[in-house]
Amino acid sequence: MDPSIQEAESHYFTNEPPPRDLQATVTLAREFINRHATEGRRLVLVTSGGTTVPLETQTVRYIDNFSAGTRGATSAEYFLQEGYAVIFLHRQFSLLPYSRHYSHNTRSFLDYMKEEDGRVVVDGQHQEEMLRVLRQYDEVKRENRLLILSFVNITEYLWDLREVAKLMRPLGPRAIFYLAAAVSDFFVPHDRMVEHKIQSNEEFSGASLPSEGTSKPPAARTEGRSLIIDLEPVPKFLKQLVDGWAPEGMIVSFKLETDPAILVKKALYSLNKYSHHLVIGNLLLTRKWEVVFVSALEGEKWIRVPRNRRAKSISGNESLVGLADPDGKKDGNRTVSADLSIPEGEPAVEIESIIIPEITTMHTKIIEKAQTKPPVT
Ligand code: PMT
Repeated sequence: MDPSIQEAESHYFTNEPPPRDLQATVTLAREFINRHATEGRRLVLVTSGGTTVPLETQTVRYIDNFSAGTRGATSAEYFLQEGYAVIFLHRQFSLLPYSRHYSHNTRSFLDYMKEEDGRVVVDGQHQEEMLRVLRQYDEVKRENRLLILSFVNITEYLWDLREVAKLMRPLGPRAIFYLAAAVSDFFVPHDRMVEHKIQSNEEFSGASLPSEGTSKPPAARTEGRSLIIDLEPVPKFLKQLVDGWAPEGMIVSFKLETDPAILVKKALYSLNKYSHHLVIGNLLLTRKWEVVFVSALEGEKWIRVPRNRRAKSISGNESLVGLADPDGKKDGNRTVSADLSIPEGEPAVEIESIIIPEITTMHTKIIEKAQTKPPVT
């Protein structure tokens, strides 16, 4: 591996303290991975939700990355449906598999209930749907196929990712890393973080000093009445994951963009740079309706769910969008760019129900290829 990358890893993990519960996380993950490895099951690590960047050690203020956790939580359910064991590493309080159907919306979970003869029961109109979800959840629980772990900030996420990835190494090609979390690109290093709440009142701003034992200037400070924040880049650990932490696993990363003109280019750039298996590109506004797969195996391929309802185009005009061509629009051998209309409401089909079977098919090919490789001597 490139020594400068190893240096960046060593520098980061030496300087950024591990989360308090790292040992507990490792113990749980080790037991879960070993059990499923013994049973010969495929295992996927799904990361989900946004990482925060704290500005203070005793954190009152932080910068956040956009993600409700829908992609991760929904994908985890479809992986479980495909028989995988799932480690769900998610941002605390973001959406969870199964309970996502009844949380984080304007409706209270109590709205699904009613009182009957002095007992609480599920309201008739929700019985069928809730029974379906409950049965899936019970099966997964019985088979102990779901481990839920959580992080809040970028450093907790990276420590957990590294430790869990290393534990998954013995699974070889049977492991998938499905990196749907929205990971911060910039952060405040520990040795430049102030200990206490940053003061907005100039009279008290002297209190915003770096944590004890650090001599560097604080990354966040007030100047006059303005808050100045000087963030540093988070090293891109995708390279270490691919080359060092999990060299045999299937690695799927996501690329989030807002500008349709650069989505495929950026996804291709990422694939070439990190040489992993698959980049799934998505746009903020259309992520539930379409994604683009970019891989060495299959090139560029759009996956779309039917848009059989009125949709607003980016120009603001309304148009009726018909059923999607599942292969995307063809331009010679290339499928062409994102559909520029912004759909309204929720799609009739969860796009993850198409994404995950596609990935498991690719995963089977990767496992078969690994099995035909001559053993390393
Ligand atoms: O949860 P939802 O509301 O449904 O939203 C889902 C989603 C849009 C957040 C999700 O589908 C998605 O795109 N997640 C990835 C967002 C992201 O981090 O994109 P990026 O372009 O910043 O990073 C690309 C890849 O590099 C990621 O796989 C990330 O794991 C990796 N990365 C990023 C930053 C960093 N410092 N190191 C990394 O290795």
